[in-house]
Formats: sequence, structure tokens, C-alpha cells
Amino acid sequence: MRVLFTSPEIFPLVKTGGLGDVAGALPPALHRAGAEMRLLMPAYPGVETLTEAKPVANLGDPFGRGDAVVLEGRMPQSDLTLWLLDCPALFHRDGGPYQDGAGQDWPDNDLRFALLGWTAARLSRGDSPLPWQPHVLHAHDWQTGLAAAYLRAWGGARPGVVFTIHNMAYQGLFAADLVPRLNLPWSLHTMDGFEFWGRMSYLKAGLAFSDKLTTVSPTYAKEIQTPAYGFGMEGLLSYRAKDLSGILNGADYGVWDPAGDSHLACRYGADDVVRGKAANKAALQAELGLPAAPSVPLCVVISRLNDQKGMDLLLAIMPALLEQGAQLALLGTGEHAIEAAMQALAKARPDQVAVRIGYSEGMAHRLQAGGDILLMPSRFEPCGLTQIYALRYGTLPVVSFTGGLADTVVDASYATLLHGKATGFVFQQCTPSAFQWCVERAIGMYRRPEQWRDIQANAMRQAFSWDQAAGRYLDLYRSLLSIGEGGKAEGGGQP
Ligand code: ADP
Ligand code: GLC
Repeated sequence: MRVLFTSPEIFPLVKTGGLGDVAGALPPALHRAGAEMRLLMPAYPGVETLTEAKPVANLGDPFGRGDAVVLEGRMPQSDLTLWLLDCPALFHRDGGPYQDGAGQDWPDNDLRFALLGWTAARLSRGDSPLPWQPHVLHAHDWQTGLAAAYLRAWGGARPGVVFTIHNMAYQGLFAADLVPRLNLPWSLHTMDGFEFWGRMSYLKAGLAFSDKLTTVSPTYAKEIQTPAYGFGMEGLLSYRAKDLSGILNGADYGVWDPAGDSHLACRYGADDVVRGKAANKAALQAELGLPAAPSVPLCVVISRLNDQKGMDLLLAIMPALLEQGAQLALLGTGEHAIEAAMQALAKARPDQVAVRIGYSEGMAHRLQAGGDILLMPSRFEPCGLTQIYALRYGTLPVVSFTGGLADTVVDASYATLLHGKATGFVFQQCTPSAFQWCVERAIGMYRRPEQWRDIQANAMRQAFSWDQAAGRYLDLYRSLLSIGEGGKAEGGGQP
């Protein structure tokens, strides 16, 4: 089984969130399960050096921004083959993969990610200049959605296409006059295609033209078929329900396990969790300038700071949290208003609140290890990896009952405590009062160390294996093997 796996970010090369983690860990798991993998990502600055990539093909210049050259290198650690889409005018610039240093979307994201989709499609077909072609193209999120549209437009023999939704809120919406500019036929710009309220949507292209759709938890797969979570695409998703499945993400315990984590002051496992967490908590409090307070509950947040993540709920309950005597340590970036409000809080209450605005892989690990309670009051959460990592670090999560949070955290109720199943604290309604009550419940439990340790032990035992998820993806790929000879061309049949 040959699989071309394309994502706009792949850990450890580029990461802005959970998609990077998934694209870093799932391909090696698929490889272990027997699939032959090729990864495709843009050649952002520095990446070709890290992967020792060399040019192997020139695909020409479809959009007038310079040639799209394919570089071939190796992924660090896993050694899988990586193809980099090199087009300096579009990808060689300082800043993030989607935004500039000031947090503004790159104005040419339309062309940047059209080229990624176009390249994935070009490399998937028999007329690719490279000798290796996939049985299945597996594409992720709106940035790769056009791959399926190009394959539909060109017609002819093509691989099966699997499209994974990591977040329905990001839809890749652009003005419709882009359609001819991208050499796509107007016949695909319809309600059944990539047209969305007059504009074109790269996400909708992926949803409409891929053979199979997946998302990253079973609960989110159901939620997105409803108006509350479908962001206007619930109709299409329910129409495609028989092709849509939820496959829960795993965790890469090679990266996220306190027993082997090189970012920590002190490594620990389930059998020395009390000592290990105490040492990491003391180190974290010192690093963040919080008072050394071993028995004060330390709540941590590692998050994009936006509406999805319920950061307004956190701000709303801060007075109550401080009243409880807890500390809060937050690491994140996002909306400027939330960043500013968090920073103001830290300034007003330095004895209880520490805030770091920015992105730091090392600090994310140290917060997981040094914290007692992870707060994740998401309004929606396709899967969520942060709470899955927290479980392994014995940092008990407080989460809302949605998406992957509902699928991965077991609320400490009377019954689950009795049966040794509780792993955290879950609240139903995304309101400040429900969240506050849940945080107070967690803090109350923290003050009963014996019970707390029982829950910690359950949490640390949880294993969200990528191997299991990889098996499910392989089954899906196999179901597409007969696709091979493809349909008719919609746009003249020429790349
Ligand atoms: P999402 O992908 O929606 O942001 P996830 O919980 O799936 O949420 O994944 C978030 C990933 O990004 C985790 O690996 C988390 O540690 C990391 N992360 C989020 N914010 C930061 C930050 N400011 N610094 C470092 N890592 C971060
Ligand atoms: C998205 C989602 C998050 C998920 C991640 C990886 O960023 O917001 O819930 O865990 O993708 O699938």
C-alpha cells in the first residue's frame, strides 16, 4: 500500500498545533503497519537543511509565481521519505506557515495552498515525473483540500483520496474569481462542489471531492453533521455520512511521556509520580516566578488563545479561581485582546498568575509535568491532544463535554470513582458557572490526596495508541484500492 500523505505542517519540522503532531506521528505508525509512505509539505525556510533535501523534479509554474520544484529528503528520527514543495516566492519568508510575525494571514495563502494541493494531485497520478505513485492520497485540512478538486478536474486514472478534517472552523475561503486563475473549471464551482455562499472554499473542495472523509474523534464526526458544529457545511457532511468516520488521534509517547521527557527538571513515571510532580512543580514555579507553594493547586493552560478554546470562560472564572487560592500558569498565543487580558491579570496578581505569550515546545512539556490541573474549556474540540498528554503526565484535565474531549476524559463521578475509571473532570454546558463549578470540584478533589492519586493512576494508565488509529486508516485505504481507473475529466483532463 503506497500512501502520499500531505499536510501543511509536520512535527518536528513545523508545528502550530495538533495537526503538526498528528502529521509527525501518524505516518511512522502507518509505516510500522506496513504502508509505504511519502510525506509532502511546503519547503518553509530551513526545512530543506534539516532534512538534507535535494531537487528531484520540476513541475513547472502553474500560477506564475515561479517553478514548483520537488525536493526529496528524510524525516528526522523516522527516516521516512519527505517531499518538499519548493517555490521560494510563496514559501521562503520569515514568520509562521500561515501568518506573518504580527499574526496576520499571508495575503497570498490562496496561491500558496492551491499550489500545495495542485502538487499533491500532480504527484499522485500516472503522469507524475517521479517514478513512485500512491494508491491513496491522504490530505489534511483546508490547506490541502484542492488536491481532490484537481484530481476531479483532470479526470483519468487517479488514487483513492482520503481527506481528514482537523477543524471545521478553518474553511480556506477565497473570492470566486480565483477559480480560473487556479486553472479550475467553473463546473466545480457549484453548491455540490467547492462553492460556498458565493466564494470558493478549499475545505469544501476536500469534503466534496474526496472518496472518504475522516475526522479526529467519533464524537466530532457526529457533531459536525449538525448546525451547531458544521459551520454551514453540516448539510454536505450529513449527505456524505456513509463516507465519513471518526478515528481518534493517538499520542506519540516517544515525545510525550514524563518518563523519557528531556525537557523536564525531573523525569518520572506512575510509580514515583508524587516525587516527580513535586520536583517539576517546584522547578516550574521558580521558572515562572510564582511563589514556591507545594500544596497550592497549580492550574495550567497550553493553548491557542481564541474563542474555540473557551478562553473567555477562563477569564470569566479567574476571580473565583484566585479566591480558591489556586495558581494559574498559561502559555499561549492568539487573539490580541485575550493575550492582553491574560497579561493584565498576571501583572495584577503576580503571586498567583504567570502568563507567557508565545510558542515554546519546552515550556509546554514543563507545564504538563509541573501542573496539577489542566484547564481546557473548549467550545468545540475536534480531538484535542493537550488533554491526552496531560493524562500521561498525571495532570488531571478539566474539560468541556465536546468532541474528542468527551471521547478521552472520564469525569470523576461517584460511579466512576468507585469503579476506578475516573481520569479527570468534565462539564456539560459551556458556561462560566458550569466551568467554575467543575474547576472547584477538581480543586476540592486535589485537597483529598488519596483520591487524587487514584485518579492520577487511572489517568497515567491511559494509552491512546497511534498503532490502533493507523490500523483503522489502513482499513479505509484498502477500501479504496479499486478506485484506480478514474472518472471523466471536468476541465479538459490536463494538469
Ligand atoms: P489545537 O490543535 O486545536 O491547537 P491540540 O490540543 O490538538 O489543539 O494540540 C495543541 C498542540 O499544540 C499541543 O502539542 C500543544 O502542546 C501545542 N501548543 C499549543 N499552544 C502552544 C504554545 N503556545 N507553545 C507550545 N506548544 C503549544
Ligand atoms: C485541530 C483541532 C484539535 C485536534 C488537532 C489534531 O487543530 O483543533 O482538536 O486535536 O487538530 O487533529
